[in-house]
Amino acid sequence: MLKDFNKECPTVNDIASKKGPVDQWQIAAFARRRPRVQIPTGPHLFCIVFPREGKRKDINTLFAFRNSMNLINKDVVSIKDFSNKEIGHVLNVAEKMIPVAQGAKKSEMLKGKLLANLFFEPSTRTRLSFETAMKRLGGKVIGFDSSKGTSIEKGENIADTVRVVSGYSDLIVIRHPYEGSARLAAEFSKVPIINAGDGAGRHPTQCLLDLFTIRKEKGAIENQHVGLLGDLKYGRTTHSLASVLARMGAKLTCIAPQELQLPKEIIEECQERGTEPKLMNRLEDEIKNLDVLYVTRIQKERFPDPAEYKRIMSYYRIDKEVLGRGKKDLIVMHPLPRITEIASEVDSLPQAVYFKQAFNGVPVRMALLALILGGIK
Ligand code: CP
Repeated sequence: MLKDFNKECPTVNDIASKKGPVDQWQIAAFARRRPRVQIPTGPHLFCIVFPREGKRKDINTLFAFRNSMNLINKDVVSIKDFSNKEIGHVLNVAEKMIPVAQGAKKSEMLKGKLLANLFFEPSTRTRLSFETAMKRLGGKVIGFDSSKGTSIEKGENIADTVRVVSGYSDLIVIRHPYEGSARLAAEFSKVPIINAGDGAGRHPTQCLLDLFTIRKEKGAIENQHVGLLGDLKYGRTTHSLASVLARMGAKLTCIAPQELQLPKEIIEECQERGTEPKLMNRLEDEIKNLDVLYVTRIQKERFPDPAEYKRIMSYYRIDKEVLGRGKKDLIVMHPLPRITEIASEVDSLPQAVYFKQAFNGVPVRMALLALILGGIK
């Protein structure tokens, strides 16, 4: 099965020479086909590292890289590329970045460095918080917020775009509608790639800021009972978050309509990491047990059938009455944007931390940029 699939897959050169945008199956197929090196990052955890064009590292360098917690030049494609220790390190650095993120303290840590923001999909928080993070650290930013007006419209493929932009910048942040696109970009880039969301795939920097928020608000991640609510099928933020919460010792309950439950492979990832997520349809049955309620938007843009979207969108709504059934110190998170899933009356309650969570994107992304670009060890 895998053999036949591989036969159909394009090689790096097939993709590089293809005229026009690379289509979805090619990116996904390519991401699965690439040669892998497994690097142990702990007693039970393996990190898959893909050697790439122009940046191949031998196995010893890679081992040294993992052991030293040195994040210089690291691609951030999936949260799986980080050990728990590395995540803890990023969060500790982020904590120190808060006064700079707030503008209370000045920094020139990344003076002379240039970040390229390549956003092929809409974004407010991720794009602007990366821009803020870079500028607060004294660096500069170039980029685009849609493929409109770029040579993608003339038929340039993602590989060529990334190759060219990696010659203009020190680090690329990419958001693209196709799963696997960031992994592909890392193959062609001479500079580190940060995945800012690849279709319904992963959103690792959102995951880091979510972990930062939980740790800050609740004091720890381990043993927190986290309820993931909403569109767990298409919501990429919950894919990254579920598996990392599992390996950090949190308890997980996934609350979603049957058709939007967490994908099987993510459930299996959680199980492999020692956490059996509880799957439920109704929040009412579980809210009293939760420490963290992580609400997500129904992803209209990823629904193949608009009628199905309409049916599901009013499935749940968090308001004062619902929260009244929860613990007093429950926190409500949301990656935002929210549509109707959290009533605005919740915004002023102490449980609502989603705007603080959005701010936390700045210090967390500052920490990542500083660690990857060598501004801090
Ligand atoms: N949370 C998040 O990714 O928001 P944006 O789509 O606005 O970047």
